[in-house]
Amino acid sequence: MTLNLIPVTAQDYRHLARKRLPRNFFDYIDGGAYSEITLGTNTDDFEKILLKQRVMRDISSIDTSTNLFGKTLDMPLVLAPIGLAGMMARRGEVQAVRAADNVNIPFCLSTVSICSVEEVAEVATKPFWFQLYMMRDRGYVKAILARAKEAGCKNLVFTVDLAVVGARYRDMRNGMAGGLNAWGKFRSALEYPLHPAWLFDVGIKGKPHMFGNLSELVPSARSITDFKNWIDEQFDPSCTWKDIEWLREIWDGNLIIKGILNPEDAKLAVSAGADAIIISNHGGRQLDGVSSGIAMTPRIKDTLGDATTILMDGGVRSGQDIVKAVASGADAVLMGRPWVWALAAKGQAGLETYLNTIKSEMRVSMALTGTTKIADINQQIFDTVRS
Ligand SMILES: Cc1cc2nc3c(=O)[nH]c(=O)nc-3n(C[C@H](O)[C@H](O)[C@H](O)COP(=O)(O)O)c2cc1C
Repeated sequence: MTLNLIPVTAQDYRHLARKRLPRNFFDYIDGGAYSEITLGTNTDDFEKILLKQRVMRDISSIDTSTNLFGKTLDMPLVLAPIGLAGMMARRGEVQAVRAADNVNIPFCLSTVSICSVEEVAEVATKPFWFQLYMMRDRGYVKAILARAKEAGCKNLVFTVDLAVVGARYRDMRNGMAGGLNAWGKFRSALEYPLHPAWLFDVGIKGKPHMFGNLSELVPSARSITDFKNWIDEQFDPSCTWKDIEWLREIWDGNLIIKGILNPEDAKLAVSAGADAIIISNHGGRQLDGVSSGIAMTPRIKDTLGDATTILMDGGVRSGQDIVKAVASGADAVLMGRPWVWALAAKGQAGLETYLNTIKSEMRVSMALTGTTKIADINQQIFDTVRS
């Protein structure tokens, strides 16, 4: 019997986050689209990759650091943009950027964060990344980009896989998408007093609960639901590669296109002016039934070669997963849910501990596959793939 006093893995933090958060918020982070098949595939495909153990090599010095967009990072990991993170921990995005800075990896702020770019910039000690969705009103796009630039962001992650929003049935069941009757509203409101630690720390002391980057644009919004309705109207389903060319003209930093899942689109993204792509299925939250990011990584790498920076996400839960992704052709990975679980469970300190655990896992995985630096990691470290 284990005591389980100290959380270590992503699953440990998930377990604690589930206990601490009201049900609707836990499910919002945890869930995926439709039957959540792709959500499962994202992690399963990492597990299927077998590593080849190598021994008797000089592994006395292991270096997990890498260079990304001219910056040295302690490991090839970026905290993915996550909407509403500030509802999971008090001023969540502020705590996350502090943790990322202390571990020397980048934090990417979502368009739909609770804390604004300015609030995050105030505490950040290193440049953070900014993520944007295309909105119908291009004036808004320009205005938000100007704020991100002013806040010191040089890397823009532009997400292209949310032209329509995937149906997340957990959110529908919990009334996150509206439609609650009187009993539903009462039952939902009960979740807050049932989670007093969250209620006091985040629900009360973590205010204001607004979408920090959008509050000026939607002055009439009084609640998260008002914002959500506005955002759903603003997502532009008519967006095409032409708009990326337009974006390329107005954004002079790095342009990183997120949500690419096949070689054809990867090539189009590069032609439209992308400096980098993120192979992603939005953490299994959009089109259920698509392949995992890790399965698509070698194919997209074969198509793009070394000319374009390739990032991937979906299912990264450990340092060993990062090693597998790099061996598959990724220059770095993004991690979504686990950083929010760690933050919800144990705040900034918990997230830092978890990130340091990931770094240790990378070191051990590198050592026992006989690799000592990121540039050495390639498909030679794989054994057969379990089917
Ligand atoms: C709760 C939640 C909110 C998200 N919000 C955003 C967002 O605002 N912008 C975005 O580009 N991606 C968003 N994503 C997708 C993540 O950036 C990332 O692609 C995904 O979480 C990676 O999968 P993982 O959670 O298995 O690591 C969100 C994902 C989750 C789970």
